[in-house]
Amino acid sequence: MTRSSAATLKLRRPRITDIPRLVEIERAAFAAGYYREHRLTAADFEMLLRRDETFFLVAESRRLVVGDLVGDLSLSKAKRLARLDSIAVDPEWGARRIGSRLARRFLAHAHRLGYRGVTLEVAVPNRGAQRFFSGLGFRRPRRLAKYYNGRVDGLRMTYKFR
Ligand SMILES: CC(C)(COP(=O)(O)OP(=O)(O)OC[C@H]1O[C@@H](n2cnc3c(N)ncnc32)[C@H](O)[C@@H]1OP(=O)(O)O)[C@@H](O)C(=O)NCCC(=O)NCCS
Repeated sequence: MTRSSAATLKLRRPRITDIPRLVEIERAAFAAGYYREHRLTAADFEMLLRRDETFFLVAESRRLVVGDLVGDLSLSKAKRLARLDSIAVDPEWGARRIGSRLARRFLAHAHRLGYRGVTLEVAVPNRGAQRFFSGLGFRRPRRLAKYYNGRVDGLRMTYKFR
């Protein structure tokens, strides 16, 4: 049996009982040391579940949560830019378009709400994620000096709706 296919994948709102699994995915997906302090904790997830302005979605395959996306629809109202705060796919489930489906759903939602675009930050050494975001249409990387743990530079990337 293949581990996943688009047919078995479901995107849904998270539940409180998903939190231990989401914490596990954070640890596995953000394994690099510079991400340690940026990983979402169980308390963060609980708070995000209660927050109205958070877009929070999980990807599930046969009842196993395999990825999640957290977006913020409150920031940068003046510029009307939503923010993709975090996206993580269990590395064992990588390269099956799960991340793409989560990200596209968030982009479509922000577009429908009238935002002009979506912005995000990614660590400079995280080349895989940069390629992933470029493939989705995120552009104009701007460097953020020592953004992660005061040591590692970040890049701000932006997706603009036409
Ligand atoms: C980035 C991430 C969400 C991508 O999820 P995914 O489900 O594996 O990605 P997809 O299968 O949808 O990939 C779509 C395209 O992105 C590119 N891509 C994704 N991950 C990549 C990687 N690690 N290296 C190079 N390219 C990558 C590929 O071009 C891929 O298309 P292709 O395989 O047809 O060429 C996932 O790798 C992850 O959780 N990474 C760790 C956490 C992280 O860095 N999050 C982003 C910062 S918030």
